[in-house]
Amino acid sequence: MERGRDKPRHSDLLQSSTHSDYKRSGYSGDCYAHKRVRSGGETFPSVPRFLSTQRQLYERSFPVYKQPVEVGFFSLDSERNFFNDSRQLRYYVEPGKSPNFSLRDGYHDRFIKRDEGVKEGLDHMLRWILENRTKLQSKNSASSCALGVDFVTWRGHLTKLLTTPYETQEGWLLAASKFGGTIYISEVETEAARVNRESRTERHKEMMYWGYKFEQYICADDMNGVPDQGGVVNTNEAFCTVVQTRLSDHKLLFSGEVDCRDKDPRIPAPACYIELKTSAEICTPKQRSNFHRYKLLKWWAQSFLPGVPQIIAGFRDQDGIVVAVETFHISNISQLIKNEYNCWKPTVCMNFCSDFLSFVKSVVKEDNPRLVHLFEWEPHRDVMFSVHRDTQYTFLPDWYVNSMESHFAGGAQPLD
Ligand code: A3P
Ligand code: MG
Repeated sequence: MERGRDKPRHSDLLQSSTHSDYKRSGYSGDCYAHKRVRSGGETFPSVPRFLSTQRQLYERSFPVYKQPVEVGFFSLDSERNFFNDSRQLRYYVEPGKSPNFSLRDGYHDRFIKRDEGVKEGLDHMLRWILENRTKLQSKNSASSCALGVDFVTWRGHLTKLLTTPYETQEGWLLAASKFGGTIYISEVETEAARVNRESRTERHKEMMYWGYKFEQYICADDMNGVPDQGGVVNTNEAFCTVVQTRLSDHKLLFSGEVDCRDKDPRIPAPACYIELKTSAEICTPKQRSNFHRYKLLKWWAQSFLPGVPQIIAGFRDQDGIVVAVETFHISNISQLIKNEYNCWKPTVCMNFCSDFLSFVKSVVKEDNPRLVHLFEWEPHRDVMFSVHRDTQYTFLPDWYVNSMESHFAGGAQPLD
């Protein structure tokens, strides 16, 4: 197996039916490299083998990105149980300009942390699809595939794709399976991410709590309620929006967690949603520049995707005291960063994501829920893939596959 790299990749470590030929043709001036297959003296273009992540390849006009439409939502309760409703939606309560919230409060005695070792994959989204498929199918009745979308995934996975051309630290692994004409994309934790997760320092663990504590200070459970600042922070709880949109010619259905909404009931979703963030206070020009270059990229990508228009940011000192609160409008972020030299560009993010999805479509052709193509990326490398049939990477659960198959066998639109 030739891969032109020294470090073994995740798929190398597996006993499975991976492609044994990973021979790379090198960068050919195109974003994809196509392997040419010799047959009877002729060469034919075949499936592309890798995708470059070099920024300059994606500096073209902004692709079509349709205004995301909310097609539903769901909630996960304090024990991570699924509910097909908005019971976990919270309402934003504006804090004062310098509120002095202590984000350390409650970490030791009022914190229930979700078990990150439990890998839920796409299961909550799939549950939502099963409970709402009639609605989805009538909305997309003109489509040739069962759900009427090309891709189903989490918003967080798309966020990682958007930021890939600028990412220098963390790689990713994305598993893809085609079923009923739709490609499902689900993240697999990399070895590096697992090691990082299992070796966090006590300080890091506490700082991860701070963002949730900030949410508790400025969110109420009811439209006319007040925040319960002395309550328990439980990170199992979540409210997730499900949106449909289109990027270039890719029809997308994805879900993402939403922190809270504006109290004004006249604002429709997703425009009413508000993302909450915390960040270290900015004291020097260098810190401001880093904030623009690195943090605003991630903040922009996460909220732009589902059409969440604003972020409320709490800036905190070293001791976790919120010293300032600022609003960022997603539509203004590209203006804010324009004076940074060699800064990130929204168009590069979106074009890379669009090309990655085209790459996935060109590779994942067989409709088979047990077949997984594992797309793999490490910083400073190209995106590559390997093939896994009936392995531990298979992620579409039997309860989902069987239910969809019997639904369509019972007279609904046929699967492809
Ligand atoms: P901050 O965003 O204020 O850091 P989100 O902002 O995506 O809704 O996530 C809520 C909080 O979860 C974060 O608040 C942070 O406290 C924690 N968190 C989420 N992802 C994290 C990560 N990869 N590393 C550290 N903390 C994370
Ligand atoms: Mg948040």
